[in-house]
Amino acid sequence: MTPDVPGIASNGLNMPALGLGTWELSPDTVEAILPVALEAGYRHIDTAQIYRNEQAIGQVLEDSNLARKEAFVTTKVWPDHYRPDELLTSVEKSLERLRTDYVDLLLLHWPAFSGNGMNPTLEALMRARSDGLARHIGISNFNIEQTERAVAYCGPDVLAASQVEYHVYLGQERLRRVLARNNLILTAYMPLAKARAVNDPVLWEIGAQYGKTAPQVALRWLVEQDRVAAIPATSNPHHARANIEIFNFSLSLDDQERIAALDKNLRLCQPEGLAPEWDD
Ligand SMILES: NC(=O)c1ccc[n+]([C@@H]2O[C@H](COP(=O)([O-])OP(=O)(O)OC[C@H]3O[C@@H](n4cnc5c(N)ncnc54)[C@H](OP(=O)(O)O)[C@@H]3O)[C@@H](O)[C@H]2O)c1
Repeated sequence: MTPDVPGIASNGLNMPALGLGTWELSPDTVEAILPVALEAGYRHIDTAQIYRNEQAIGQVLEDSNLARKEAFVTTKVWPDHYRPDELLTSVEKSLERLRTDYVDLLLLHWPAFSGNGMNPTLEALMRARSDGLARHIGISNFNIEQTERAVAYCGPDVLAASQVEYHVYLGQERLRRVLARNNLILTAYMPLAKARAVNDPVLWEIGAQYGKTAPQVALRWLVEQDRVAAIPATSNPHHARANIEIFNFSLSLDDQERIAALDKNLRLCQPEGLAPEWDD
């Protein structure tokens, strides 16, 4: 039996709380791991134009015979395509590669805007939604000030999600409050802190009480929070199956607090020229 992954609802979006991340997965790896993940119960897949694996994902989804509405596919527009006309063309190309008429969620990958600022790009993003290329739209890697500006420009209940780095070593407390206040789902990327959480003795100790591993505890801690989804990546079938087995236990309040105390503001993703000035 495959585990039932709960959905997170916000601003009209209903996103499975756990998805498969695919950054750094080559097309061959996607072709090997995605069928395993679908078999294990994953329905949420996170990709991006820059990952160069949209085509492989589209092929596997088509071959799986899964009804389109059963899958939840996110892709992200790369800043090179932020000029309004280019944004729409680039999304159409993504859809061709993904072999679909729409993505469930379309994000701006980084807040790296040219001289005209973010508004023309946000306008094009909203156009992608009104034209039916994307069911929902959102942002990624925006700091608090940028998030608030984007929400103010688009209006309430338009942006549905923000994808940011979030794991046991990076608390994101202030940004989380801003997202919650504006009804945006937080999709946690690098939810295993790029495998650092796998070797954490505190997480293993906590997991032992529930018959779970450290990575399962790290993921469970995220998805237990209000409107937080996690998208761990793996190329390993055993890990793919294990990472979704997190919906049959709950962390005690004490354990949640012990995990929250692991926060050390560790930020792993800050590419030069793309990353904004982060909030502490
Ligand atoms: N929006 C953005 O700018 C942005 C930036 C970064 C990432 N992301 C998204 O977030 C996804 C996840 O982030 P990430 O891939 O960088 O980091 P991650 O999910 O935190 O960590 C992935 C690493 O953990 C290992 N792993 C996974 N499950 C494991 C398990 N059960 N036991 C032991 N090791 C395990 C994987 O190795 P194995 O292959 O050996 O399992 C891989 O090395 C990405 O794939 C991407 O979709 C988005």
